[in-house]
Amino acid sequence: MAKTYELPFKLINPGLFHTESFVHGEWVKSKSGHFFEVIDPGTGNPWASCPTNDAADVDAAVESCHTCFESYKKISPRSRAQMLFKWDSLIRENREDLAMLLVYETGKPRSEAYGELEYSAGFTWWFAGEAERIQGTVFTPSTPDRRVFTIKQPLGVAAALVPWNFPIAMVLRKAGAALAAGCTMVVKPSPETPITCLALAYLADKAGFPKGALNVLTTDLEKTPELSEALCRHSLVKKVTFTGSTRVGKLIAKLCSDGLKKVTLELGGNCPFLIFDDANIDQAMGQLFALKWRHAGQACVTANRVYVQAGIFDAFLERWSTESKKLIVGHGADKTTTMGPVTTPRGVEKALSLVADAKKKGAKVLMGGNKLSDTTGYFFEPTVITGITDDMEIASEEIFAPICTFIRFETETEAVKAANDTSMGLASYCFTKNVDRIWRLFENLEAGMIGLNTGNSSAAESPFGGMKQSGYGKESGKDVAVAEYMTTKTGTLTVEGII
Ligand code: SIN
Repeated sequence: MAKTYELPFKLINPGLFHTESFVHGEWVKSKSGHFFEVIDPGTGNPWASCPTNDAADVDAAVESCHTCFESYKKISPRSRAQMLFKWDSLIRENREDLAMLLVYETGKPRSEAYGELEYSAGFTWWFAGEAERIQGTVFTPSTPDRRVFTIKQPLGVAAALVPWNFPIAMVLRKAGAALAAGCTMVVKPSPETPITCLALAYLADKAGFPKGALNVLTTDLEKTPELSEALCRHSLVKKVTFTGSTRVGKLIAKLCSDGLKKVTLELGGNCPFLIFDDANIDQAMGQLFALKWRHAGQACVTANRVYVQAGIFDAFLERWSTESKKLIVGHGADKTTTMGPVTTPRGVEKALSLVADAKKKGAKVLMGGNKLSDTTGYFFEPTVITGITDDMEIASEEIFAPICTFIRFETETEAVKAANDTSMGLASYCFTKNVDRIWRLFENLEAGMIGLNTGNSSAAESPFGGMKQSGYGKESGKDVAVAEYMTTKTGTLTVEGII
């Protein structure tokens, strides 16, 4: 039985709040009738419950998407763009409420929730434009009496397996591209963040997307592997997009390989952040601060390892610690809060174990390193660590917590070698005013995205994606993101009398 909860906040538009799955325009329970709780990371208290879907619920959702696809793919690109624009304006109109839901699902402070919404609406806006700019080619091949042309066609039903750290942005980045391309989509949000996803589905429905264009199946942590596997294996699912860990990404790739499905994998990062002696220190400090402490360090593009050149190392570190001590850790809904909790209790456990391992192997904890004990929420102190060595887990694993590690370096060659010494390759950052070095670093750093005197650079118009074990495929950006949901068909015509 679903429990009912009194919401710990008020919504301006209560119609946004849904707790059942959304399939073919209807709010539905799971076949099992089971539910799971949605927890406020700032208190550890449940505030909603959603259906625990499993493999038995997948067929209906996918069939609905497939039925819709048969007509949706024929809708004109302009109509798709108009629906995306309408969705975009509804999301912007409901910004206050969506921000509040984000705070209670993820724990992030309200100011960051607004930031996520601004970033997210960039996707609906951008992909509305992309819908009308999908084009093929025509050319004269080596055989002179022929003409060759290509068209792009949508793949069919896509499945999106979405993370909890930026739950609105990640749904819109995936669904925006799919719907622009003419695909339909089943979204499986994370167990931590189903409510924002259901609110987006509600708004998509209001924006005029046909029934089955965007279905949402919620589930809990235990049933996530089963539900995800059923989506990946379903014969009508032609495309799977996943954002999450490298470990799970590899499982998804294996599951999809049977059906030779097109897959986009946005996986873990272990991103290096290089600051040279000749950097603009204020700039580097400000950009690192915003990147590292955003959402308590829970972003795959965050700085995992900060390398500072020897000439400025001590001064930079001292200033960093002074500034970081000013962070106000608290509930995301509290206006004074500048850093919220981590989103899951697992996040706290992992942070504790990374710090313990680093300390045991000789690292020095300059600040923080502990769970906040006077609260039931999942709070971890902003933590600064030096003396990192390669054998420490914190050097090779994605931290995903408010822990910043600093490493001293002497030369550019040494810094690049250390930065690239990881199986991951999502993003890298470097700060220097030497223009030759900037270009060398851009070419030599092994990552899909390089910030040059810039921290977080994610934007709807920029291709987002990694290399190495950070995955493959691009989300956002011109042409490339929509292309992930399309196939190119080639026509060859013999033209009599042309030569
Ligand atoms: C992530 O880092 O998890 C995604 C955040 C972004 O799109 O910048």
